[in-house]
Amino acid sequence: MTVFDDRHRRVQVAPMMELTDRHFRWLMRRLTRHSLLWTEMVTSAAVVHGDRERLLGHSDDGPVVLQLGGSDPGEMAEAAAIGESMGYGEININCGCPSDRVQAGRFGACLMAEAELVGQVVARMRSSVHVPVTVKCRLGIDRDDSYDSLERFVDIVAEQGCTYFVVHARKAWLDGLSPRENRTVPPLRYEFVRRLKSRYPSLHITLNGGLAGPESAHEHLPGLDGIMLGRAAYYTPACMGQVDAIHYSDLPNGNEPVVTIEDLAAVARDYAGYMQSWLDRGMRASTLTRHVIALFQEVPGARLWRRRLSEGAATATDVRALVEHALEPVESRHLQHHSHTTT
Ligand SMILES: Cc1cc2nc3c(=O)[nH]c(=O)nc-3n(C[C@H](O)[C@H](O)[C@H](O)COP(=O)(O)O)c2cc1C
Repeated sequence: MTVFDDRHRRVQVAPMMELTDRHFRWLMRRLTRHSLLWTEMVTSAAVVHGDRERLLGHSDDGPVVLQLGGSDPGEMAEAAAIGESMGYGEININCGCPSDRVQAGRFGACLMAEAELVGQVVARMRSSVHVPVTVKCRLGIDRDDSYDSLERFVDIVAEQGCTYFVVHARKAWLDGLSPRENRTVPPLRYEFVRRLKSRYPSLHITLNGGLAGPESAHEHLPGLDGIMLGRAAYYTPACMGQVDAIHYSDLPNGNEPVVTIEDLAAVARDYAGYMQSWLDRGMRASTLTRHVIALFQEVPGARLWRRRLSEGAATATDVRALVEHALEPVESRHLQHHSHTTT
């Protein structure tokens, strides 16, 4: 298990279903050695009864959080112990997902109305693992969205020994908004998160929601303990390439900054080698290429990179060759541009 400390929590990459699988995390790790990465949410029932290797198997090198969905204290405790035994350094309880399916299972954001139950879950999980048990939540749900109810929720849960909270700084409407709308429509209220931190200075509070990239850490980190990036990290992954140099210079063995087109191309080639090892084990290329499609943004050739990669992935058996083919327009135009500007 990779044991990690609070310094790693400064910059975190959010749990995102269908996105933050082990392959995306491999790519992220190539960009930042020290940021805290999160799994997708996995339900406690799946962990306890399902194929553990498929659900939880990983080759993460560095700090990773396993996020669980569920609310049965016994089952959550069992799932947490399994997660710990499989190398995860923190187990998180999802109290923020607004989907209907999750609500029907009585977990996710609807748990914000059941602080006592969340407290029981925390207590049982803590008795079954050594790693931290943490909570990721919203500001509130439906009409129960005052600062006071957020504080009440945190107070009751913290009472049971949860000292780490990640707050997605908008409420969730459980009735009437889709999960996607619930990530854009309710307004962001960062001030609630700041107020929470000043009320509970000894709790570790991470701010999440609407942050444009790691540079927003400079603006938002002071006074808080961490920032968490979701969509920015997934849809503009290159933005993570300087995180170690900027935010983790006090930790050893950080990654070299990934800044230039050459650096990004090197990342793409390394990831191609990683992808090939999975293709050789029978995985479809598109399952893997999708994570690297957004690596190049707003540079000449980026559109062709995306198109070649996505069109080629359907039939690719040699993914290294596919990546070389897709890199060609980016690299050749970069070279052309470079020779024009330097001659
Ligand atoms: C496609 C997608 C899937 C998500 N899945 C999860 C999840 O499994 N667990 C969770 O706590 N949050 C999930 N979220 C919410 C993110 O973790 C994060 O709280 C949200 O996107 C706000 O951060 P951002 O504005 O930086 O993207 C998901 C978000 C997206 C876009």
